Amino acid sequence: TFTGPFTVALDGPAASGKGTIGRALAATFGFEYLDTGLLYRAVGARMNEGMDPVEAAETLEAGVLDDPALRTSEAGQAASKAAALPAVRDALRDFQTAFSRRLGGAVLDGRDIGTVICPQAEVKIFVTASAEARATRRYRELAARDPEISYETVLADIEARDERDMNRSDAPLRQAEGALRLDTTEMSIDDAVAAATRAVAERLKT
Ligand code: DC
Repeated sequence: TFTGPFTVALDGPAASGKGTIGRALAATFGFEYLDTGLLYRAVGARMNEGMDPVEAAETLEAGVLDDPALRTSEAGQAASKAAALPAVRDALRDFQTAFSRRLGGAVLDGRDIGTVICPQAEVKIFVTASAEARATRRYRELAARDPEISYETVLADIEARDERDMNRSDAPLRQAEGALRLDTTEMSIDDAVAAATRAVAERLKT
């Protein structure tokens, strides 16, 4: 088994399938997995409660990341707003860098892992899909739990976050140099997982 530091940087827009791919890679290779969106979601949630977002980021503890309330679209929007603040991004940086270098391998998913946090990552993957394909997938997940939800609301939510995450001046969402691009608009998530798994397996051999 693998023992050194080995980083997989997984970036892409909201609901692109990067979480599914990241968890699958972590399980297959025995790597640790960090969903960095949860860091921003936890900061956004505290900002919505009236806390200063920079202070929230500076005092964040890993224990709060399991809260299911962080998965809501309100927390996602708040995260996207807090994430546009350079001082918030700075405050969350050391935790992510340390996580990426832990022994035994690490998978980090987010928006700027391959471009800013881990530009030296052993494997970089950019997962994307049309906004409509992402909204359809997310809508099916959410509708199973909440019959009130509409496809139009989910699509509008995704488009608003894309707009903010791609156009902010600090660490905007971009495909990193040397990243494998997986467009899941037509490709099934299973095929995307298989392609990502092959990329990691190949790099581990070198
Ligand atoms: O991955 P997610 O949808 O849970 O992320 C929520 C928001 O957090 C996203 O809209 C933008 C921000 N984010 C970021 O700016 N950088 C990251 N590495 C991860 C998330």
